Amino acid sequence: MSAQLVPAGAPSQTRIRSNVREEFLPFALPSIGEEEIAEVVDSLRSGWVTTGPKVKRFEADFSEYIGSRHAIALNSCTAGLHIALTALGIGPGHEVIVPALTFCSTANVVVHVGARPVLVDVGDDFKVTPELIESAITPRTKAIMPVHYSGQACDMDPIYQLAARHGLAVVEDAAHAVGSTYRGCKIGSDAIQGSADIKRVTVFSFYGTKNMTTAEGGMNTTADDRLAERMRLVKTRK
Ligand SMILES: Cc1ncc(COP(=O)(O)O)c(C=O)c1O
Repeated sequence: MSAQLVPAGAPSQTRIRSNVREEFLPFALPSIGEEEIAEVVDSLRSGWVTTGPKVKRFEADFSEYIGSRHAIALNSCTAGLHIALTALGIGPGHEVIVPALTFCSTANVVVHVGARPVLVDVGDDFKVTPELIESAITPRTKAIMPVHYSGQACDMDPIYQLAARHGLAVVEDAAHAVGSTYRGCKIGSDAIQGSADIKRVTVFSFYGTKNMTTAEGGMNTTADDRLAERMRLVKTRK
């Protein structure tokens, strides 16, 4: 830091300029070592510059790490959220409950499928509460999209119970939450859902500023065979 003490009476212009860092402060530098660089070079040499065997390996490793039956790799979390809603059959005339505090793509994807995002407020801890979600449910509601904001796990048990009671799907925006846990289970794991009989997908982001990165990328996890099959189909549909 190069901030200098400025006399109390100095003009505001001077005060602002003297408190600016000389060096640029990066927001979130990725941790990239020789091993990662060697993998990229190996991929380029292999000829598989689109989805190939390494993506399959990544999906298998990720599903084992998270503890989910299926892991489906995508080019972004936004695409993952979009195909989750599509695979769930959400579209015109439907409503989806979204927290008011999130990145724009959580709500945008609802609009992209022709449905209506219904925003609910979050608490002081940035998490949606089951009470606020329940107050926003109408006969048109089809899904809830809790966001594990800044990696903090939402209280999922009451949300799953609520979803089961009202016959709603749950699409968890876990863009910030690779490795976050709830009740000792990783966010996105099958175990976290317990016995709740609901359709559920969790969606992660590997964008450059996230806690794990592939530069751009995303991953959907689910325990549901039919949903996984639909998402695999939809992701490659042009
Ligand atoms: C909460 C949240 N959801 C979704 C996204 C979208 O992620 P992606 O850039 O991988 O599409 C972001 C990105 O910052 C995010 O913060």
